[in-house]
Amino acid sequence: MATKMAPRSEGISYQELIANDVVPPPETLTLEGIFESPITSVPVSRYSTPEFHAIEMERVWPKVWQMACREEEVPEVGNYLIYEIGPYSILVVRTAEGIVAHHNVCRHRGRRLCDAPGKVSNFICPFHGFSWNIDGSLRGVTSEWDFPHIDKKDFTLTPVLCDTWGGWVFINMDLEAQPLAEFLGVLPEHFAVWSPEDRYIEAHVAKIMGCNWKACQEAFMEAFHVVATHPQILGGIGDENSQYDAWGNVSRAITPNGTPSPHLRFEPTEQEMFDSITMRDLDSESMMQVPEGMTARAFMAEGARAGLQPIVGEDTPISDACVSDSIYYTLFPNFHPWGGYNRIVYRFRPYDNRHDKSIMECYFMSPFAGERPDPAPIHWLAEDEPWTNAPELGMLARVFMQDTFNLPKVQIGLMAAQYDSIVLANYQETKIRHFHHTLEGYISD
Ligand code: FES
Ligand SMILES: [Fe+2]
Repeated sequence: MATKMAPRSEGISYQELIANDVVPPPETLTLEGIFESPITSVPVSRYSTPEFHAIEMERVWPKVWQMACREEEVPEVGNYLIYEIGPYSILVVRTAEGIVAHHNVCRHRGRRLCDAPGKVSNFICPFHGFSWNIDGSLRGVTSEWDFPHIDKKDFTLTPVLCDTWGGWVFINMDLEAQPLAEFLGVLPEHFAVWSPEDRYIEAHVAKIMGCNWKACQEAFMEAFHVVATHPQILGGIGDENSQYDAWGNVSRAITPNGTPSPHLRFEPTEQEMFDSITMRDLDSESMMQVPEGMTARAFMAEGARAGLQPIVGEDTPISDACVSDSIYYTLFPNFHPWGGYNRIVYRFRPYDNRHDKSIMECYFMSPFAGERPDPAPIHWLAEDEPWTNAPELGMLARVFMQDTFNLPKVQIGLMAAQYDSIVLANYQETKIRHFHHTLEGYISD
């Protein structure tokens, strides 16, 4: 263990807390990835200028592995979808040999090849009818006699790297990029116990947000904002006791539940903590009594375990931490799968090639017993639509409403700011510091 520890909040640490759990956590939750970097401030221009957005579009997005979709969203040979990031448009298609990706651009005079997802036996450009096989090889040239100068072998769709992990499909536009497995680093090892490949898309909501994509995702990378933004949950959340880690391209936060916030000026009873957690869902009927001598945390875990065990199987131990805590990973630059049995996965990216608008997506990835249910189709919410228009998100929609209230105002503030840099907390904003540290590796000359 590193000896140079950053100062932490007083009170019980996450490691002390899980040491007393009834069913102990998987080993990966006992690890700490101490992050050391001098970065404690970030230039405002990274959020507020089209110039910095252009730098990201040139030096970051074309170089990194990005989650494009789930494997089950292209279930059969010929099924394809379109992944868009800024000006780039990429076809992800299942072939008999596996899932591959191509730039969604006709090689003749450049029309976008496909306008919508679908299922095809080949791609035909609507402009002059050139066509390509789904593996990207050339199929047909209209008036072939007029193109003696085309080398048919080379006239493929422009290739994009494509690989999978955990049921997720990743693409990388840089053909020289390191392999996905290397880029993922510790992520597969940490998620092995939760088998993300054995989940299905129970819900998928995408909303247009009035802020830079980084400002948006950074609101979901710390529990530091809970005290001011979500004060109603302080009774049962160890916001300031969260643990923050980083390894390679991966960062992680773990916010314990069933433990009181150090910000509280009173000590809640176990029952008050339990009520604080269960009443987060205003529709829940839970007014259950925590049994004498039991902690709210253990009681909550016991209930969740009973519901999950038949689905994941009796052989898989379900720890208290894996059903109670918020374990939120980030894979640079924009993929946020939650660990444990929390269903959340986020993805953030710029909207419409703009620096001041973004797309926030929330997937609910749920375990299932028996046959895999069909994936939920994507549900788009406009910029002015409330999250509560997506009832499939349940209580989370109301939490998002609180986050969403801040974010366009963050963008307005950043655009108005007459100082150079925002400032970050040393420990609680570790994930944001880690993001910018990693980003600098891409943008520096
Ligand atoms: S632009 Fe596609 S066939 Fe001409
Ligand atoms: Fe929040």
